[in-house]
Amino acid sequence: MKQIIMDCDPGHDDAIALLLASRSDQIKILGVTTVAGNSELENTSRNARKILDYADIFDVPVYAGCSTPMMRDLYRLTGAIIHGEDGLGGPTLPDPVTPIEQEHGVDFIIRTLRQAEEKIILVPTGPLTNIAMALIKAPDIKDKIEKIVIMGGAVVDPGNITSAAEFNIYVDPEAAKIVFASGCNIYLNTLDISMKAVFYEEDIERVRAQGDKVSDIVARLLDFFADTHVKHFGFRACPIHDALCIGVLIDESLVEFQKVFLDISVNDPLTLGETVADLWGITGNEPNCYISMKVDREKFVDMIAEHMKKPYISKN
Ligand code: RIB
Ligand code: CA
Repeated sequence: MKQIIMDCDPGHDDAIALLLASRSDQIKILGVTTVAGNSELENTSRNARKILDYADIFDVPVYAGCSTPMMRDLYRLTGAIIHGEDGLGGPTLPDPVTPIEQEHGVDFIIRTLRQAEEKIILVPTGPLTNIAMALIKAPDIKDKIEKIVIMGGAVVDPGNITSAAEFNIYVDPEAAKIVFASGCNIYLNTLDISMKAVFYEEDIERVRAQGDKVSDIVARLLDFFADTHVKHFGFRACPIHDALCIGVLIDESLVEFQKVFLDISVNDPLTLGETVADLWGITGNEPNCYISMKVDREKFVDMIAEHMKKPYISKN
């Protein structure tokens, strides 16, 4: 059983990543920490609990993390136009009944890692603020981190917030720089690859036709997501970016990775948040992460469809 802490900013694709992890018989979610990103922290924290409650997941605690990036104001634009004003636009989900935990998300990450008997996998799918803050506050936790599976970055293809940068890294580039310099075992699922694993209309209809309540809400979330992608990117398809981070934990053959040296631009306004990867090893720098290079889209679509119709079975 892979024990994970999911750090997220729900967000449509974060929500589906949570549902996928909850339905996998290989993954135990120790807790969810939320971060400001797609929307303000209050919204991402409510959205995480909304989706968990809706999917009958009442034994996974949710901890609110950092409400702003480490050194910048929260970038409030793109999240809203892609994910809606409250971060989870489209279908109306009931208000959560699960309360938010009182402990800060960063403290939960530190405490859980320190107390862990086995190494834990961190799965950040929003800005890396909470992860960076935990590593700064308690460097000793590195020994308890099996790996960090991140959604973020754009290496060969253009970004989605600027031509140079992907949203999660752009929102808190200093946090990303800290995480990639930490020496932790990092797997980065980039925009280059998540944009090659999109859900088309027929894939959304396949999930909707499954008829159970989770498949239905996923289809309705993707309807909204597809609408905003048509409006702002000109194509009607859903890149479920964050769910790939869970997908590779379920089936490592889903994505092929390459080990590279990667660093983040933080000083130049033109390239702020750019993930610069040394693909050819020409810098001589020691590789510090694995980046996604290839994905099996059909396998991903099948995985999402198969898992959404499964009932939730508690692993706690
Ligand atoms: O660029 C895509 C990422 O930004 C995803 O994690 C999405 O949820 C948004 O946070
Ligand atoms: Ca996200």
